[in-house]
Amino acid sequence: MQISRASKTIIERRVATRRYMSELPTTFDEWVENFGEWQTRVGFDPAWIGDFELSIKFDWERAGEQIEFGDYKGRKKWERSLQIPHQNIRDGLLSMITVQGDTEFASVEQQKHLLETAPTDYDRYAAARIMAEEQRHGWQMCYLLMTYFGQQGAREAQKLLERNAQEGSRLLGAFNRPMPHWLDFFCYTMFVDRDGKYQLGMLSTSSFKPLAASMGPMLKEESFHLGTGANGLRRIIKAGVIPLDMLQRYFNKWVSTAHDLFGTDTSTSAEWAYVWGIKGRWDERKKLEEGLEVIKENLNEESRGHYHDEIAAEVEKMNGLLPEGAAPLYVAHENFNREIGSCAGGRYTVEGHAFEGDDAEWEEYLHQMMPRAQDEEDLKKYFEEEWIEFRAPTRMMIESGIGQIKA
Ligand SMILES: [Fe+2]
Ligand SMILES: [Fe+2]
Repeated sequence: MQISRASKTIIERRVATRRYMSELPTTFDEWVENFGEWQTRVGFDPAWIGDFELSIKFDWERAGEQIEFGDYKGRKKWERSLQIPHQNIRDGLLSMITVQGDTEFASVEQQKHLLETAPTDYDRYAAARIMAEEQRHGWQMCYLLMTYFGQQGAREAQKLLERNAQEGSRLLGAFNRPMPHWLDFFCYTMFVDRDGKYQLGMLSTSSFKPLAASMGPMLKEESFHLGTGANGLRRIIKAGVIPLDMLQRYFNKWVSTAHDLFGTDTSTSAEWAYVWGIKGRWDERKKLEEGLEVIKENLNEESRGHYHDEIAAEVEKMNGLLPEGAAPLYVAHENFNREIGSCAGGRYTVEGHAFEGDDAEWEEYLHQMMPRAQDEEDLKKYFEEEWIEFRAPTRMMIESGIGQIKA
């Protein structure tokens, strides 16, 4: 019997998956060994992280002692899974930690090929550091799964090494999108990593103490990722090579993707997560202090709203760098180009209005607003020019070995 190459690959993959699944790691150290195999499989050279240490970090103090909101408010935060009062809550936590971990490894799969084409050594360092930190974040989530969630946790920790962004099997849409070039990378770190900041912030007040305590160090690292995106985009604007209307189209693509990441509207799982105290609102502690009432039915909309305002303000700051008379850059309305939520699949303009026009007019509208095949072609030419303001790495960056850049 002749087996086509495609089906052979599928069979091999299935066999490989079965092998992994039958050999679930029983300790975190065993999981770490499998992580090494994942690095090899996705083509990430461990030498790229230089002296960065993949390790587990907790900030127990910031995690707080007492449950801060929801039905268990005022009780002691849970430190072990046996203290979690219901299986449903345990399952909710397990899935939240799994989704978080999935995004961390996925982003490395999406980005690692970019190191080869870094516009400067500084950018190569930055991307390698971001990928090192994302791997540490994935470690942290897997440590929680392996330590607190028994065999179910081990299974999920192992699956985090088996789904793959290139194959489109990561859990959230944004983390399966290809990122062919550095303009995508800067938009991604600006808009998608910034969604990460919100997710981590909302978990930082969790009733499950090991999860809350994981967030402080992760948030610190995450801020470098957002900064890389924002600075990169500013340097692109200053260089003045990439046309602003094209830049806007890439903003539109990643902004709408990031809007989706906040989840469905009137989400019951977000509501339960709040009732159980496992995931709060953005800036929960401040809101509690101010006595700001919670609207449990609209938690995802609420956090998306904060996120939207923040990126709109960031882009407004970028507008200060535009040449005289240039049309300002903007952040598309939350209704535009959504795949998740009440506007999913609907036709809305970047201003958020229902689109008026027929199919052909809508296609033309999308052609104006979203990246086109021609943009990808044109970018190849721009990337050969000085398309981004130069930035040199510091001596510390070079000596760190991260990204293996040379003086
Ligand atoms: Fe991360
Ligand atoms: Fe990140």
